[in-house]
Parts: sequence; C-alpha cells; structure tokens
Amino acid sequence: MFKKLFSYLIPVNILKQKSSISQSLEVTWTDGKLILDSQNTNYSYGSLQRILRKGLKRIGFERINAMKKILVLGVAGGSVIRILVDEINFKGQITGVEIDAAIIEIANTYFHLHEIPNLEVIIDDAFAFVWKTKDQYDLIIIDIFQDTEMPDFLFEVDFVNRIRLLLNPKGFLLFNTMLINAKQKQLNLDYVKHFDTQKYNVKNFRKMEETNELILIESIL
Ligand SMILES: C[S@@+](CC[C@H](N)C(=O)[O-])C[C@H]1O[C@@H](n2cnc3c(N)ncnc32)[C@H](O)[C@@H]1O
Repeated sequence: MFKKLFSYLIPVNILKQKSSISQSLEVTWTDGKLILDSQNTNYSYGSLQRILRKGLKRIGFERINAMKKILVLGVAGGSVIRILVDEINFKGQITGVEIDAAIIEIANTYFHLHEIPNLEVIIDDAFAFVWKTKDQYDLIIIDIFQDTEMPDFLFEVDFVNRIRLLLNPKGFLLFNTMLINAKQKQLNLDYVKHFDTQKYNVKNFRKMEETNELILIESIL
C-alpha cells in the first residue's frame, strides 16, 4: 500500500528480471497503477492499454460484448484482456497466445490473469499457433512486440492470409503496430493492401501516443 501511495510522487519498481525475448521485464507502481514494461517500452497497463482501449472503442463495446470468440496474440500482463473482461464484461471465450512463459508467470502473480475463468492462455509462438488452431474468431487482436521490435512474420503474406482465414465473416482484426520510421510506415501501407476493400473496411489510426499506429480491419462479407 505504501509503495502504491508513494508511486504518485515517483515510480516504484517492484520487479526487474532479464528476458531472452524482451531484454528485461519490469513491474512498477506508477501513479497508483501497476504497469509492466520491457527494457525500452510499455507492455501492459500504461500507454499500451490506452491505445488498445481506443481501438476497441472504435469497434464498439456493445458489439464486442455480443461476440463469442476472441483471439489475442501477445498476452504480456494481459491489459487488453482486462479491458475485455472488466470493462466490456465479455463472457465468451478468450484465447491468449504468448511466447514467453516467464511473462505469464508475472501476469498471474501481479495481474491475476489465471483468475479469469473464460481465458485460456497458450504458451506458443503466434506464428506456429495460427497454423494449429481450427477455430475462427470474431475478433483477433495482434499485439506482438519483442521490446520495441515487431517480428517480420507479422507482415509476411502467408501469415496475413492465415489470419484472414481465421477471421469470422463480419469479424474484426485489430493490429497494433509501431510507427517511428519510414520503413514501418511503408510496411503498414503494404499490409493493408492484403485486404480487398470490396470485402473489408480498413481504417488506420496514426500517431496513437505518438509512436503507434492501430490498423482496424472489419470483414464485411
Ligand atoms: C506489447 S506486449 C502485449 C501486451 C498485451 N496485449 C496487453 O494487452 O497487455 C507484446 C507481447 O508479445 C509477445 N511476443 C513476442 N513475440 C511473440 C510471438 N512470436 N508469439 C507470441 N507472443 C509474442 C511478447 O513476449 C510480449 O509479451
């Protein structure tokens, strides 16, 4: 309690550990809130959560509430899952895929993710998982970073085509990307070209918290 109160004055770090995937993982009280950071960026419950909340609001909380299956690629501390469960009161099935088992231990210990009854967390590489699953989803959230880097596979045509197949008709894809240089801008421009505008509504939300671009795609088949 003291650390939480003190964090209104200055951030209070309560865990720091090395990570092979994210360089380091840090849990910190900031302004009375517990957040999870990698070495160089916020992973969960800070700016990242604000960005994803805006994306979900664009889809509409009521619409999400009526969905049946949601896939989250990149779980970390689970802040988008907390929005689905605590703010949207989503009761359907949530599948979270996370490559780093250590981060899920942190998510369970500090953010109580294991107490969410309608959440299944799968420790796997998202790239491998999408070829194994036989399910289709009403909403797919892609939020995969290794510290500030996005793995190349996210933008490769095979992966994008597979994601398209996993999306239910009338489903939504919310893709959180980093936008801090011309190369990333071009990657995002090329990404949306994979979605035929006869079949998909595509919206880009640039300059989210200055560094991110959210890509929102709605299947209108
Ligand atoms: C920004 S965090 C996710 C934040 C989370 N969506 C939230 O709402 O709090 C990015 C996560 O992607 C995970 N990640 C990186 N590469 C991955 C991969 N190939 N497959 C699955 N997860 C991956 C990282 O370990 C990290 O936990």
